[in-house]
Amino acid sequence: MRDRLLAAEKVKAIDWRDGVLHLLDQRRLPFEETWIACATAADVALAIRSMAVRGASAIGISAAYGLVLAARARLAEGGDWQAAWEEDLALLADTRPTAAHLFWALNRMRDRLDRFKEPADPLSTLEAEARAIHESDREANLTMAQLGVDLIRKHQGNAQAILTHCNAGALATGGFGTALGVIRGAFLDGMVERVYANETRPSLQGSRLTAWELAGDGIAVTLNSDSAGAHVLKTKGVTWVIVGADCIAANGDVASKIGTYQLAVCAMHHGVRFMVVAPSSSIDMMLASGDEIPLEERDAEELLQVGGQRLGAAVDVFNPVFDVTPADLIDVIVTEKGIVERPDTAKLAQLMCRKRLH
Ligand code: MRU
Repeated sequence: MRDRLLAAEKVKAIDWRDGVLHLLDQRRLPFEETWIACATAADVALAIRSMAVRGASAIGISAAYGLVLAARARLAEGGDWQAAWEEDLALLADTRPTAAHLFWALNRMRDRLDRFKEPADPLSTLEAEARAIHESDREANLTMAQLGVDLIRKHQGNAQAILTHCNAGALATGGFGTALGVIRGAFLDGMVERVYANETRPSLQGSRLTAWELAGDGIAVTLNSDSAGAHVLKTKGVTWVIVGADCIAANGDVASKIGTYQLAVCAMHHGVRFMVVAPSSSIDMMLASGDEIPLEERDAEELLQVGGQRLGAAVDVFNPVFDVTPADLIDVIVTEKGIVERPDTAKLAQLMCRKRLH
């Protein structure tokens, strides 16, 4: 599976080259493949906030490289460079509040410096750590793909229909994707007949990104509006809903793209299994339940405009871009440390004590 997935790899959204972070501008996909060059931490923070780079893992990886750029600039300034570097860290942290992987990556970079109070070469130390964060995400994707495929095979090995929401693919991670990694693996094993992709209003990650990624892999994909989700589950023989996660609380509640919650309710009603695929770095054991997960709200214009044209009436707007799916609606959470069926606090605590499987 690992080798076949690696051989099938086509999309890459993050490229650290010659001391510059290159990001595929996801706002312009699928029509233009334009790359943005980020030379400063502020460039990276802007790319994250404006969603040029998006998806929890991709955000965390980009922010880690952003801290390498910050260190380079602050070291050149001299003086108490680490205090100034902390300001850059705060700037990067203040971009997307729900993406647990962002805070995990930033903390990991800070810990790396703290572990060696005065590393001989802080810049190389930080660059090596950012590369390690990037590479470990890629590895985690491969492990999760294998575990997810095994689950699909266990329940029903023949080709089937799967529904996904948002984009949890190569564009959202440092590898093949979380949810789309499993779907790609299942496709390579002949277990995917068709994928239904919710369009994912208002940023359209489903129609612009997921449909593009899957079609590029030759996987049969049908786009449907978010409002059609329940109808698709009822009428199209879907056996699994597979999604990624932006933050998972200690009790297994999952924050993911707005609309995921209603999909989980509908999946339970129709007896469709619900799988969440996310690296363990998305699990924040300090958050007792989903009620404590900060849910990002974005600009009203994202809802009022369609294709840059203002179509909505000028009224108050509520635009949360994530929601919380309660643990009791989730059949299984797949991580690189293993799977958790019917998640709860005890099972997640046990999982977090385990080593990675690769
Ligand atoms: O607002 P986005 O596009 O960053 O949201 C992304 C998602 O909701 C993904 O499903 C999630 O990050 C999991 S993939 C790593």
